[in-house]
Amino acid sequence: MKKILVVGAGGQIGSELVPYLRGIYGESNVVATDINCNSCTKLAEGGPFEELDALDGKRYAEIVRKYNIDAIYNLVALLSATGEKNPQLAWNINMGALMNSLEIARENSCSVFTPSSIGAFGPSTPADNTPQDTVMRPSTIYGVCKVTGEMLSDYYFTRFGVDTRSVRFPGIISNVTLPGGGTTDYAVEIYYGAIKDKKFTCPLPQGTYLDMMYMPDALQAAVKLMEADPSRLKHRNSFNVTAMSFDPEKIYATIKRRIPEFTMSYDVEPVKKAIADSWPNYMNDSCAREEWDWNPQWNLETMTDDMLKVIGEKHAKGLI
Ligand code: SER
Repeated sequence: MKKILVVGAGGQIGSELVPYLRGIYGESNVVATDINCNSCTKLAEGGPFEELDALDGKRYAEIVRKYNIDAIYNLVALLSATGEKNPQLAWNINMGALMNSLEIARENSCSVFTPSSIGAFGPSTPADNTPQDTVMRPSTIYGVCKVTGEMLSDYYFTRFGVDTRSVRFPGIISNVTLPGGGTTDYAVEIYYGAIKDKKFTCPLPQGTYLDMMYMPDALQAAVKLMEADPSRLKHRNSFNVTAMSFDPEKIYATIKRRIPEFTMSYDVEPVKKAIADSWPNYMNDSCAREEWDWNPQWNLETMTDDMLKVIGEKHAKGLI
């Protein structure tokens, strides 16, 4: 059975990807790592766990050898809004973790999955039906890291034969671990606001359309791509993938139909607005559909039913 390492496992994606991978590949075959985090106890209960600073290449390589790892999911990243507060730190963390992942993969014959993002696009990219192959001139340090990461990953594939694969995730909506410091975070926080306070203050203005995806589809995307027949892949780093596109009014209306007393006001954060304005309204993900059968299962309506159910249950139990 394949041995998998998840780096940055305590974050929004990792805290759900680890149990998902353990369900597919077996608990003992999926090693979770993070740099000291709150959700690590939970990750450690379900299978192997190691504390790891992904910038510590020596320890990173030791763990890969210790567990005889075949595939690395590198999830380490500062998100877009946090990145703008400290661009140098964002570069060092995002690129440092990727460079270590690629080098260690090269030395130990591992495959590598690293998420890219809608943030890899910029203001000169066509915003509607954004093509797979198009202008990529992002205006955030997060995006600069993502574009560089895509190119570096393709370089490691063509130059060294490292099996690198990636998707450009949209905003990911989930109910286990909150995202932190992202521009799309509002689409998660709005559900918590609706359940807990029956109100929400939105940091992005009306009319700001962005691609989004429910976590189960994001997990499915990562594993499906990593298991895809390589002879079908014309692209590698990275594939557009999306499941839905909405603006704040649309998600608000969808929640309000289920919770009539819910209200939303706006207090626009200029940095987040500028970032969101530079990203696509909706991407064209036909290459992912053609090359590895990408097929999202969740839309805004079904996701909203599920989010409100899960968060409502947590609230009723006093967990949030
Ligand atoms: N969710 C990320 C962010 O908002 C985009 O990939 O920064």
